[in-house]
Amino acid sequence: MVTVNTILELQAAVKAWRSAGESIAFVPTMGNLHAGHLHLVSVAKTKADRVVVSIFVNPTQFGAGEDFDTYPRTEQEDQEKLKSIETDLLFLPPVAEIYTPDAQTTVSVSGMANLYCGASRPGHFNGVATIVCKLFNMVQPTVAVFGLKDFQQLTVIRTMTRDLNMPVQIIGVDTVRESSGLAMSSRNGYLSAAEKTIAPLLYQSLNTARDAILAGNQPYPDIEQHALRFLQQAGFQPDYFSVCRSSDLKNATLQDTDLVLLAAARLGKTRLIDNIYFSKEPGMNAD
Ligand code: PAF
Repeated sequence: MVTVNTILELQAAVKAWRSAGESIAFVPTMGNLHAGHLHLVSVAKTKADRVVVSIFVNPTQFGAGEDFDTYPRTEQEDQEKLKSIETDLLFLPPVAEIYTPDAQTTVSVSGMANLYCGASRPGHFNGVATIVCKLFNMVQPTVAVFGLKDFQQLTVIRTMTRDLNMPVQIIGVDTVRESSGLAMSSRNGYLSAAEKTIAPLLYQSLNTARDAILAGNQPYPDIEQHALRFLQQAGFQPDYFSVCRSSDLKNATLQDTDLVLLAAARLGKTRLIDNIYFSKEPGMNAD
């Protein structure tokens, strides 16, 4: 695996591959890699001739008072892990390589980017859309692979690539979970031992809500309220729990068949997010 820190080195490497007729799959990350990230890389390897991974803790997607300074940075271990699964290239730029002080352009996806996590973290998805757009322009991948755990992020990125005619195929990959059901996340490292026993209840609340929807005997707002109460009683400070249409994340109606349940809740100082997506049509369940 080659590790490069500059855009010029990155572009030279990907240009050589493209000239040789090779396709490129891209996995953008913020590092502190866990089994979920490595699964994204293994899927990427099946989609193209070469795999590029970036590790960049993107300052513009963190709000004031959020964990940008304390976000776990484990570059040495990350490089070992990526090497062991035969990643072709790691792009590991410093902030100054990516953001110049005279930059005047940002990418913003209106509408859904201001709901759910966007409402609690104003500007977050503008930061995500801008960095992903910049990285796509640098890497020019054929496909890019993202985790379905960040379902809203994936939907924002799909919308951006569609609206801006970006020639990249976006692939969503299933969430990797601990045996407890807790979705793997770099932020799980913030949880105390006691909180780790409570955290899986977030996934449990999603499963319970899905079962109630499939049983078909409760209005969606009641299901949401029930889940919020359950989370609060378990010791979370819930942020939102929403029954959405999976295509555009609007509030689902009883007529919608493809649904995603989006949830976010704080446990101590850790903000956890998770989701379940499924179809109400028999035999079409997606999760
Ligand atoms: O999901 C992440 O790790 C980040 O939001 C991403 C997509 C790498 C952009 O910084």
